[in-house]
Amino acid sequence: MIIGGEYTFSPAILVKRSKGYIDSLVTDFQTGYHLNLTFGGYYSLLAIIDELKSKFDNDSVILLPSYICPSILNPFKIRGINYKFYKVDDNLYIDLDYLISILDKRVKAVFFIDYFGASQLDRIQPVINILKLRQISIIQDVVQCLKINKENLFGDYIFNSFRKFFPFEGSLLLSKDKLNIDFGKTKNKYIVYKRIGQLIRFIHIRYNLFSSKQFLSLFKKAENHYYSSVIMRMPKFNIRQLNKYDIELMADRQKYYFNQLFNAFSDKVPLLLHENNFIPLGFVIKIERRDEIRRRLFEQNIFPPIHWRLSIEIDKNLFSKSFQLSSVILTIPLIGMTNIKYSYVFENLNKVIKNESIS
Ligand SMILES: Cc1ncc(COP(=O)(O)O)c(C=O)c1O
Repeated sequence: MIIGGEYTFSPAILVKRSKGYIDSLVTDFQTGYHLNLTFGGYYSLLAIIDELKSKFDNDSVILLPSYICPSILNPFKIRGINYKFYKVDDNLYIDLDYLISILDKRVKAVFFIDYFGASQLDRIQPVINILKLRQISIIQDVVQCLKINKENLFGDYIFNSFRKFFPFEGSLLLSKDKLNIDFGKTKNKYIVYKRIGQLIRFIHIRYNLFSSKQFLSLFKKAENHYYSSVIMRMPKFNIRQLNKYDIELMADRQKYYFNQLFNAFSDKVPLLLHENNFIPLGFVIKIERRDEIRRRLFEQNIFPPIHWRLSIEIDKNLFSKSFQLSSVILTIPLIGMTNIKYSYVFENLNKVIKNESIS
């Protein structure tokens, strides 16, 4: 049994019929937004920055949350944009007073993340009103949302990432104004390494051939080629393949298995994720001995993803709660979960948490 790890796909997907997932997403958001499809969240962010840059001067600043994956800083660095951090606590809540206290004339945009699929719009609405009043642009990152819920959208720019949930890359970028994105050619070695890695991993899982080292080194090579400075489109091939997924079924499963685990381990779940109104990315807990527990789960072929090690640019004292969170957080993958897999995950998680030996 293998749980989590890089997504693979069976070659049988190539002959499957479309269920219209991407097509209906495009139809749903056509009214109210301008739509673009880029190669990934990183590329959507580059496109947003390019648009905002024309309104910036040398002093302008974007505010970013202190709980953030270091790779999300890349587009800002590549385009030479100043940024400053606002506080997020160890329950994933934004510190609203702090955010308001650092809003000065230099701030031209604020970046928000819907962590693990959960919205905190109700809490932050007063701040959103202030930002709109001061004409500060709002970027909303819904990369960790399997489904984009219209009611929770507040950004002037909103983007997701399909590779967070599927074996194919792409990002839907929604904007209030029309964007003139300077797209470059999709000639990225990333795709070649990633597809070969996925094929090898598929064969490894199904037929127990090849070693994990072989596909892992390909995934690593792929990742090293991901961050190009030219904005790439989402390939048509990816749109065709993603159209074949049953998004409603996937969303129901994510919720169902999250709730099952929540019933057992709710005391360990960050408070933002207690509100039962979102489609979760995975099952998230805060746990002491996190790295040891992750290693023990790895030994049982359960692969929680790598967690954000916060950038050294972020002040450890000022943003101590984000650092605290980043040292204890663990996500149990839920994509592709079945009842048999669930029992296996539950049993092993229970044991490692209680520190029992696994036979
Ligand atoms: C919250 C968040 N935003 C943006 C990104 C970047 O998205 P992509 O991997 O599609 O470039 C990531 C990637 O891990 C992410 O976790």
